[in-house]
Amino acid sequence: MSAQIIDGKQAAAQLREELARKIAKEEEKPVLAVVLAGENEASKVYVRNKKKAAAEVGISCEVLELSASIGEHALQEVIEELNENPHINGIIVQLPLPEHLDSQRILNSIRPEKDVDGFHPYNAGLLAVGNPEAVVSATPRGILKLLESTGIDFTGKHAVIIGRSNIVGRPTAALLLNHDCTVTIAHSKTKNLPDLVRQGDIVVAACGRPKIVKKDWVKPGALVIDVGINRVEGKLCGDVDFDNVREVAAFVTPVPGGVGPMTVAMLLENTYEAFCRQKQKSGHSCHCGGHGCSHC
Ligand code: GUN
Repeated sequence: MSAQIIDGKQAAAQLREELARKIAKEEEKPVLAVVLAGENEASKVYVRNKKKAAAEVGISCEVLELSASIGEHALQEVIEELNENPHINGIIVQLPLPEHLDSQRILNSIRPEKDVDGFHPYNAGLLAVGNPEAVVSATPRGILKLLESTGIDFTGKHAVIIGRSNIVGRPTAALLLNHDCTVTIAHSKTKNLPDLVRQGDIVVAACGRPKIVKKDWVKPGALVIDVGINRVEGKLCGDVDFDNVREVAAFVTPVPGGVGPMTVAMLLENTYEAFCRQKQKSGHSCHCGGHGCSHC
């Protein structure tokens, strides 16, 4: 058996095209503010990619580059100004933040309606209780889209998620649970990880350990989603031993070209949806076709 490769690059391009068509009809353009504190090289690349992708769909992206030594209070004041600015529809704070800052306290200061990363506890809480009004963070949304693109009904399937981060593992678990999967979250203290992963009809690898998921960990016919982005000897690889796992899985995502491009596309979707909801709230209409608001 050789797995079908799920092409996240193509799926993301299609999503961005559809989004660009809707945004082209809007008189005003959605605006995303990205807060980048410090000099993390990977973060700079991610932010550059987000800005470029935003421009391509007609979202204006304002990057606020702040000193690595900014204090927590000063950073919260920057966010408060963005919260109050009616021209800004979405706010994200690129993570990781410099170590002296408490990331969760910073994320908590973003107004939930502008929290297009879905990292605010209000949105995480709505997702956890299965409320469809939650802003769902971009990577889990992208993972769900990729799973749906296989055409497989994953109701009742056992999803094993490796990793319990607030950015990927936990919200992905909540999202798949809300879509009727049976969900197990594994993490660094989990015993017998290979045995557990072998029970998964769906495996989501999001633990940041290069190629940890081996061929003999994977149930034949499983759907394998690789969220890892690791650099080994200058080469990018995921958390899945792709070349071998593809011999047993039914579907597998590549790295690069799998979840990564979907994350960016879903952030843009979240921004457009926030724009639509804000328009609706202020008594204006948008052109989302019922996509981001209940007005159209
Ligand atoms: N750092 C790694 N992934 C993400 C993400 O999805 N959003 C933000 N803001 N920071 C990140």
